[in-house]
Amino acid sequence: MSVATENAYAERPDRAGMHSRIPDFYTEDRGTRLETVADRCDLTEAQVAALDTDGETAAVVDGLSENVVGSIALPVGVATNFVVDGEDRLVPMAVEESSVVAAASKGAKLARHAGGFTTDVTGQVMVGQVHVVDVPDPEAARVRVLDRAEAIVETANDQGVLVSHGGGCRDVTARVVETRQGPMVAVHLHVDTADAMGANAVNTMVEGVAPLVAEATGGEVSLRVLSNLADRRLARAHCRVPPESLVDGDDDRDGETVRDRIVDAWAFADADEYRAATHNKGVMNAVDALAVATGNDWRALEAGCHAYAAQGGYSPLTTYEVGDDGTLVCGIELPVQVGTVGGATAVHPAARAAMGILDVDGAAELAGTVAALGLAENLASLRALVSEGIQEGHMKLHAENVARQADAPADLVEEVAARMVAEGDVRESRARELVDELA
Ligand code: MEV
Repeated sequence: MSVATENAYAERPDRAGMHSRIPDFYTEDRGTRLETVADRCDLTEAQVAALDTDGETAAVVDGLSENVVGSIALPVGVATNFVVDGEDRLVPMAVEESSVVAAASKGAKLARHAGGFTTDVTGQVMVGQVHVVDVPDPEAARVRVLDRAEAIVETANDQGVLVSHGGGCRDVTARVVETRQGPMVAVHLHVDTADAMGANAVNTMVEGVAPLVAEATGGEVSLRVLSNLADRRLARAHCRVPPESLVDGDDDRDGETVRDRIVDAWAFADADEYRAATHNKGVMNAVDALAVATGNDWRALEAGCHAYAAQGGYSPLTTYEVGDDGTLVCGIELPVQVGTVGGATAVHPAARAAMGILDVDGAAELAGTVAALGLAENLASLRALVSEGIQEGHMKLHAENVARQADAPADLVEEVAARMVAEGDVRESRARELVDELA
């Protein structure tokens, strides 16, 4: 393989001669693709090696996406202290942001004082949409669809394997949607996806029933695809936190004050969309990390959770109030479209290992754990935000990363970082000075 020893990219005035057109790139084997990209982009040997790291997993990874040239490894951390519905659980989280795993563990520890999290899940029902345009009489068409619901359900259930796994299409609804392009009909299949995330199964079903829907409506079927607003697949988690556990020895405030400030912080998010976006981002830090670790579709979770939060005005996914007994009563409700079978969860060895750590029995149990994790993360974030702030925890890890960037030897990383934090000067140039001084 011919690769440059230095990365020439920085020196190039533009990449006009680089050619992004690579005919039949997708038909090449993975090694050849990487060679081609390395040549065209003047990658160094080190850069090539950094992409080509998935060893025995290469064939699996190659099959998961297209034009694959390598993998990017994320740290997998394990959040501790979780008790979910009476069972102790370790939660694998794949995330590159410092403090996310620590916050989840801290939130779970707070909940643990009063028995951990209780969860419930509404079911595993996804909506698949058949979108119909050019419908002569939309209201009459809607009624005709409902008249033929039984045949539509039957046809849906003839597609694929969901029924043999205990799932299947359960219901059909239809709506007339007024749009800028005039009225359209949206036919919804309500599909119990059992232990699968279900996107493929639902998409197969909506494509399979399209001819029936076209006939019933007299219109033209256009889109046939699932909706990620999984509002029939909700997971909830609750926990209580005694106020005294919200403070430690260093805190000069009492637990009741911190508890009340957490409720204020929630009320602020409930009233202010600028804050609500960040509040929910913190929830999704954890939700996505578990999804990534287990090979689940985190983009689907993101789309679903934010769409759900936006119903009736964008608001927080969690709630906080003071209970009759003075404890902080914490709750979360969010749509959780995850599976324990199929997809990357079934084939990626690291995702399978993460499922081994998690040890859940099916998609409903996984969804409940996702909810508990999101709540733990948010609880810990709010506690830190209303107390010492979040930078204290972040700064140590950030400073260690800066020390590594400055090529600090492993045995000096912590000391260099601690000195920079103490000085309030966390910069790569300062780290280099400290390395010279301490080496
Ligand atoms: C950072 O990734 C997430 C937080 O900003 C969430 C929050 O503000 O609640 C800490």
